[in-house]
Amino acid sequence: MNHQVYTTSSEEETLQIGTSIGSSLHPGSIVCLRGSLGSGKTVLARGIARAMGITEPVTSPTFTLIQEYPGPCPIRHMDLYRIDSLEEFEHLGGEELIFSDGVTLIEWGEKIAPLLPHIRTDVLLEIRDDGSRTITVRGLPCMLS
Ligand SMILES: Nc1ncnc2c1ncn2[C@@H]1O[C@H](COP(=O)(O)OP(=O)(O)OP(=O)(O)O)[C@@H](O)[C@H]1O
Ligand SMILES: [Mg+2]
Repeated sequence: MNHQVYTTSSEEETLQIGTSIGSSLHPGSIVCLRGSLGSGKTVLARGIARAMGITEPVTSPTFTLIQEYPGPCPIRHMDLYRIDSLEEFEHLGGEELIFSDGVTLIEWGEKIAPLLPHIRTDVLLEIRDDGSRTITVRGLPCMLS
C-alpha cells in the first residue's frame, strides 16, 4: 500500500503534516492515529481539523472520549486510551460512532481494530531519541504536500 514518511522537529511541523493530510480527506474518511503517549496524535488531529475549516480549538478528548466539531465537514475526534475492551466501546456507542457524516479521527484506534473498515487512513507517530517524530501515513489516496 502507498505510504509516506515524514520527520517533524516541532509541534508546528506536525500541525502542518496534519493540515496536508486533512486537505486530501473528505466526508466519510476515517483516520486512525497511533503512537505512544505524547507522540503528537492530538496535535496532528488539530492540523486535520484546521484543514477542514474547524476554527474552534481542538483539544484532547481523553476524558470526554468523543468530541464533535461542527463545520462544512464535521469532525468527530475520539480518544480511546481509556477503553479497555470492545465491550466498553459498544457501551459508548460502538461501530456507529466510527461512521459519521464528516471525518472521524480515532486516537488509539488500534484498540478497536476488528471494527475498523479496511478503507481508512492510518497514521503512526513515533518519538525518536532526539525528540523528533517520525510520522508514517498509509492509505491516503492522494497526498498534497
Ligand atoms: N515534533 C513534534 N510533533 C508533535 N508534538 C511535539 C513535537 N515535539 C514536541 N511535541 C510536543 O509533544 C506533545 C504532543 O502532545 P499530544 O497531546 O498531541 O500527544 P498525544 O499523542 O495526543 O498524547 P496522548 O496519547 O496523551 O493523547 C505536545 O506537548 C507537543 O508540544
Ligand atoms: Mg491525544
